[in-house]
Amino acid sequence: MKVTVVGAGAVGASCAEYIAIKDFASEVVLLDIKEGYAEGKAMDLMQTAPLNGFDTKITGTTNDYSKTAGSQICVITSGIPRKPGMTREELIGINAGIVKTVVTNLIQHSPNTILIVVSNPMDTMAYLAHKVAGLPKNRIIGMGGALDSARFKYRLAEVLGAPLSDVDGMVIGGHSDTGMIPLTRLATRNSVPVSKFISKDRLEQVKEDTKVGGATLTKLLGTSAWYAPGAAVSALVQAIACDQKKMFPCSVLLEGEYGLSDICIGVPVILGKNGIESIVEIELDDAEKANMQESAAGVRNVNDLLNG
Ligand code: LAC
Repeated sequence: MKVTVVGAGAVGASCAEYIAIKDFASEVVLLDIKEGYAEGKAMDLMQTAPLNGFDTKITGTTNDYSKTAGSQICVITSGIPRKPGMTREELIGINAGIVKTVVTNLIQHSPNTILIVVSNPMDTMAYLAHKVAGLPKNRIIGMGGALDSARFKYRLAEVLGAPLSDVDGMVIGGHSDTGMIPLTRLATRNSVPVSKFISKDRLEQVKEDTKVGGATLTKLLGTSAWYAPGAAVSALVQAIACDQKKMFPCSVLLEGEYGLSDICIGVPVILGKNGIESIVEIELDDAEKANMQESAAGVRNVNDLLNG
């Protein structure tokens, strides 16, 4: 299993690191446009192999896409990250051009690949990848919901005073501060609805804290986060590479599911060797349905900027 990660910045490198540590891929190729940068990151990571005990071979290349040829999975993290105070949507002007070029180059060398899009604004970049690549819809996956759900569980565990392994929950909708929909109604502590333990007001606060989870980190770090994004991508890559048939919320092209079409937005899907094996349509209540429509309208507004 060969995996390419485009962009050797913090998210790309931590994604390569987590993939390597889990030791399920034979090869990870890191690619970056900055001269020598991916080679350096790859060498540094390879020198952790004797210490961390993995056999995955990590190599780096400066923009030579021929080195990525035959990748079964390609992850796109390239583009600029947001600075404190910025929204993900503000990155579209620069990142759309970058993502377009990257997708074209990747497909040229790996026509059968599955693409995982991480660059922001992610839902719109996943949609753009569909337009550019023309791949079957099961082979383009936007990574947002897996990360947002991890942040949701973190907040829930904090308020519950419970270990994270006790908590389950999911965030659907757009990967933006206003578009995320943390499904508090369905979140559980070991099968018991969290509303049994947390007051309505505190649950509302958990929801709001989850939605600005990325922005909170950007303010603290001066740039966007990388550990949890890298771990979330590696979990999706592993689910596909190992045909795990695991369920994650991912941004995928909808054709009528959830009453939406011609849009990429976060919904639960099953991931396996074919990429998206199926889209899971869960029963939403009226408020959640309304949230989903609002979130989709927000994503569509950003998609419209692609024409500008
Ligand atoms: C974040 C970026 C990856 O939420 O969108 O941290």
